[in-house]
Formats: sequence, C-alpha cells, structure tokens
Amino acid sequence: METELKVAIVTGASSGIGMETAFALVRRGYAVVLAARRADRLEQVAARCREISAEAKVEVAVTDVSDRAAVERLVSGAVEKFGRLDVMVNNAGSGMYGRVHELPEPELRAVFEVNFYGVLYGCQAAARVMIPQRSGHIFNVSSVIGKRGTPFHGAYCATKFAVCGLTDSLRVEMKPYGVRVTNVCPTLTATEFFDHSSMAPRGHSKYESPSKMMPASAVGKKIAASVGKSKPELVFSFGGKFLVVLSALWPRAADWIMQVYHNDLVKR
Ligand SMILES: NC(=O)c1ccc[n+]([C@@H]2O[C@H](COP(=O)([O-])OP(=O)(O)OC[C@H]3O[C@@H](n4cnc5c(N)ncnc54)[C@H](OP(=O)(O)O)[C@@H]3O)[C@@H](O)[C@H]2O)c1
Repeated sequence: METELKVAIVTGASSGIGMETAFALVRRGYAVVLAARRADRLEQVAARCREISAEAKVEVAVTDVSDRAAVERLVSGAVEKFGRLDVMVNNAGSGMYGRVHELPEPELRAVFEVNFYGVLYGCQAAARVMIPQRSGHIFNVSSVIGKRGTPFHGAYCATKFAVCGLTDSLRVEMKPYGVRVTNVCPTLTATEFFDHSSMAPRGHSKYESPSKMMPASAVGKKIAASVGKSKPELVFSFGGKFLVVLSALWPRAADWIMQVYHNDLVKR
C-alpha cells in the first residue's frame, strides 16, 4: 500500500530557523511549501532541499505573513497542490530594539503585524484545514524572551508573549480534533536575525558572537523531530530553561541577571 505524502508549510523559510526546519522536514520525507517575502532566497532554499533529497517535493510561495489574504492563499495553495496539510510552522518574525519609553508606535505596530498577526493568520488558516482532517501539528515560533521580558527588547518580547498566550489557548482548543500545537522558544540562535531586524545595538558583543549562539539547525531538527508528539513547549538550552523557571519562582533574581547581562547597555 502506498503511504500518504505528509505535507508541511514553513513561514520564514528563506533563512535561519525556518530554512533549517524545512531541511529537517525534507530529510523526514515531507513535501514542504517554503514561504517568505524574498523569492530569490526561497528558490535557493528549494534547490538545497532538492540536493538533500532528489525526490523532495518542494514549492515556493512568496508570502508576506502580515497580509491575512496572502497567508490564506498560502495554505489553500498547499492543500490544492498536495491534498492535505500535516504541519504548519509559523516561524516568520522580525525584531525591534529600544527602551520601552522611547518606542515609536508605527514600528511597534509593524512588528506586531508580522510576529503576532502573521502567526494568528497561519494558525487560523491551518486550523480550518486540520479540524476537518482530524489531524495535524501547528508550531508557533515564539522565543525564550516570550517567557521572560528582557531590557531593550520590550516591543519584541510583547509580540512573543502574545504568541505564547495564543499558542497555549489554541493547544487546548485543538485537542478534541486531534490537532497538536507546540510553542517553540529558542534562545540566542545564530541566524541573520540580528543583521536585518534591528534587534541589537551595533557594537554589542552579546549579539555579535554567533559562535556562542545555538545553531539554527538544532532548532530545525528539534521541531521536525517533535511532529506528532504532544509537546506543549520546546524551550532550548539549559540557560533558557533556567531563566523560565527562575522568573516564575523568583522574578527579582531574574531581574538581577538581566541587569548584569545587559550592564553595559543599562549604563549608556
Ligand atoms: N535568532 C534568534 O536568536 C531567535 C531567538 C528566539 C526566537 N527567534 C525567532 O525565530 C524566528 C526565525 O528567526 P531567525 O532567527 O531564523 O531569523 P532570520 O534568519 O532573520 O529569519 C526570519 C525569517 O522571517 C521571514 N520574514 C520576516 N518578515 C516576514 C514577513 N512579513 N512575511 C514573511 N516572512 C517574513 C524572513 O524572510 P524574508 O525576509 O524573505 O521575508 C526570514 O525568512 C523568528 O520568529 C524569531 O523571532 C529567533
């Protein structure tokens, strides 16, 4: 008997965590639809997927996730092409750096459009396919700083806290339909994130040492390995897990660590 093709969509697949997740899913035999805004980068990722597996079924869908209609087209296009949707990875995101009292509102709203509404649109469109299908797995990429706010990232943290809350609600709502939902909380990961998303101040060593960060492939492999498992949350690294537990149990100690970690910025 022929086994049914499993189908995944990954947003933010043109680089970093999304790209590595797509590679890991292709290695596991998934047909993958790659979504992001940069068509040329998506084509390069698609070509690498075909190098990983000559049989890989890979589609490119240029999509801005802050556009609800575009995300709905992305999902309906995948279902039209492959007949089903098994995995939705809502990963696209961008950063924002700045002190809370100085945050410019238009930029803040723009980051919410991508980091929160982009995830919401992806969840809604995927759920409409997965509920009648009675199966599927939605991964929402938040951050460990969606569990504990860090100084100078208040705007970004707010978008990621919003994703954590949305994901926890969705997980329980989807359970009766056999649809799994996982919140993904990476710690600092070596990607292009800090180059093009104004997430870090120039000249701050903490954000310019990719060798000290987690490789994006570790996050991608973990997401792909978690498909079909009832994991509410993936929190990466000992430091990440420690921070989450410490801020729940002893927030004042977590504040102190944040102050020390960002000492040179706090003093500027
Ligand atoms: N790197 C870290 O330390 C870290 C830690 C925790 C969480 N995260 C989260 O991980 C996710 C992936 O980030 P990354 O580290 O892999 O950074 P990245 O390499 O910069 O990837 C970001 C991806 O999002 C896409 N994207 C941005 N805006 C988009 C939009 N409006 N519509 C569609 N796609 C959009 C980008 O593609 P285009 O520019 O081609 O659209 C790119 O593919 C993000 O949600 C980020 O917040 C990252």
